Amino acid sequence: MKTKIGVIFGGCSVEHEVSIITAVQAMEYIDHEKYEIVPIYIDKKRRWFTGANLLKMESYKDLDNIFATEVCLIKKGSEFVLVKAKGLLKKEIKSIDLAFPIVHGKGVEDGSLSGFLETIGIPYIGCSMLGASLGQDKVVQKQVLRSDDIPVVNFIWFYESEYLNNKKNILKNVKDLGYPVIVKPARLGSSIGITYVKDESEISEAIETACEYDEKIVIEEVVPNLLEVDCAVIGNEEKIETSLIGEMNTNNSFLTFEDKYLSEGGEKSSKCDNESGFIIPARLDKEIENKIIDLSKKAFRSLNLKGITRFDFLVDKESKNVYVNEPNTIPGCLAFFFFTPKGITYTKLLDDVIKMTLDDYKKNMKKTTSFESNVLSTFNGSKGCKGKLIKK
Ligand SMILES: Nc1ncnc2c1ncn2[C@@H]1O[C@H](COP(=O)(O)OP(=O)(O)O)[C@@H](O)[C@H]1O
Ligand SMILES: [Mg+2]
Repeated sequence: MKTKIGVIFGGCSVEHEVSIITAVQAMEYIDHEKYEIVPIYIDKKRRWFTGANLLKMESYKDLDNIFATEVCLIKKGSEFVLVKAKGLLKKEIKSIDLAFPIVHGKGVEDGSLSGFLETIGIPYIGCSMLGASLGQDKVVQKQVLRSDDIPVVNFIWFYESEYLNNKKNILKNVKDLGYPVIVKPARLGSSIGITYVKDESEISEAIETACEYDEKIVIEEVVPNLLEVDCAVIGNEEKIETSLIGEMNTNNSFLTFEDKYLSEGGEKSSKCDNESGFIIPARLDKEIENKIIDLSKKAFRSLNLKGITRFDFLVDKESKNVYVNEPNTIPGCLAFFFFTPKGITYTKLLDDVIKMTLDDYKKNMKKTTSFESNVLSTFNGSKGCKGKLIKK
């Protein structure tokens, strides 16, 4: 019997549409001989749907009118079942064996979805809550990477309330960091709310802009003579494999939302391929190339990642300093085009990550997670409990 894979996509983030594109393409490339695909779409109102229509790109032209069945994913006995969300009868629509989250951004990719899947106990592809949430927080990921001696840019961070109560101190800290700086909401993506600040005259406005999107703000030193490169990784605790390195093709001093989404062939263009978004392989010295490969593996381990991740690197072309900018724990197009020049087709990449997840799940099932004995079996009721407390 074929393994049934529930591909979960959409969700409430700004990258909703990109997730649909990535997922529909992945569902096309998963080996249909081996696997049965069950599409599971989360709309912007966080409702879950399934149905054959969700396999086709045309179905998403009008996101308010998608023809599919509203469902919930539950555990029933030892099975994971999609049941009809509406109506008195909890009609079972489909069972799945494995979940494949293909979601981007806050509220889904940040560990929320892994947490839900973990709670019901279904095996799922990709990072656990820890890896996924580290992947979303630009501050904590830097703190963790730094503690493992992985180079990141200098930065400061604060909450909006701290800024409002202590502007003077925070502005002094920014000055000490040294202009120009980049101001970012700490837990967003897609370059939203990010401002390049050349001097003190622009800083307050940039912080206010970032505060429109997040309570937590990070301000980073700007890497001069910037070259942005990316390296994708597939792996788990045991084995980590890197892709070729890609070089970002942009004329802007930093990548804007427009570069990423609205330009022809941008990083996450609607085409979901690599038409001019990256130059692969990147034109790098062997020394820098090796450094990036080594750092990708180390950062993947350090941040507790799993599945397929794409790392952004910032390279200073003059000094040759390399910094890990951030991981993208569920990258656009699953970064497949970084692997194809290595001879790994998209279908093989998907097969590898599915097999790896199923093997890991089997292995983890052997770990002890609870004890046979029930400590409550000797519980004497509320009196006994009270008695014990008094005795103490
Ligand atoms: N410290 C930095 N120095 C120079 N450019 C930067 C720096 N940080 C970010 N950038 C530029 O800003 C873009 C967006 O920043 P990034 O941290 O990747 O945010 P996002 O999560 O929105 O992708 C990067 O792709 C890069 O072009
Ligand atoms: Mg980025």
